[in-house]
Amino acid sequence: MRSRPGRKVRLRNTPEQLRATGVLLDEAVADGPIDLAVLFGNGRPVEIEIGSGKGAFLIKRAADRPEINILGIEWLGGYAAYAADRAFRAGLNNVRLLCADAEQVISKCLAEGSVSRIHIYFPDPWPKRKHLNRRLIKPNFITRLRGILRLGGTVRIVTDHADYFRQIRRVLASTNGLTSVRSVDAGQSESWFVGTNFEKKYAIEGRRFYALSAIRYE
Ligand SMILES: C[S@@+](CC[C@H](N)C(=O)[O-])C[C@H]1O[C@@H](n2cnc3c(N)ncnc32)[C@H](O)[C@@H]1O
Repeated sequence: MRSRPGRKVRLRNTPEQLRATGVLLDEAVADGPIDLAVLFGNGRPVEIEIGSGKGAFLIKRAADRPEINILGIEWLGGYAAYAADRAFRAGLNNVRLLCADAEQVISKCLAEGSVSRIHIYFPDPWPKRKHLNRRLIKPNFITRLRGILRLGGTVRIVTDHADYFRQIRRVLASTNGLTSVRSVDAGQSESWFVGTNFEKKYAIEGRRFYALSAIRYE
């Protein structure tokens, strides 16, 4: 099973209606290669957000940057549908949501050099020692992420978890062809805020934020 149930969310349009609009993709899209130009109906640069949750960042990014396309990959079916509903109601034609496991999409579906920017905000930290191997950001995954980035493309990651931040920094630094351009303890500085739901919740709790980005140079 690809999608996971997650929490119930209120939708104005049913998932079937959202799939008919094309904003919410059929889960079978994750079964094979994805031609991004066909998916969006144009050849504009494509960004992806991994673990897009309820879509707050994705919607704002798409509205602010109509010259790019953005694909959200989120494995909770309710959240993917919720974000698609918001994008559709906002009249955004540069957003697509795919309910799937991002590890599978990154390793099997997206072509080498096909993406201009990858956003990963507040990935699940899996703090218990016995769950550490569930963390998304590990060497094989980042090697593959680097592969789908175009030359000069960037990956941007923000977390509130100090230990995960150190792990991510180590993994980025040891990946061939990626150079780290930013790795900061951003604390509570609003100038680093990206605008996701988890970020808003954690900012109220007073948590510190850590931001990283890296560029593909070869
Ligand atoms: C802590 S939440 C952060 C959500 C959003 N980025 C935010 O900041 O509000 C992590 C999200 O990543 C999703 N996620 C975790 N692993 C995933 C995977 N392998 N593929 C797709 N989505 C995943 C979870 O379902 C969840 O919505």
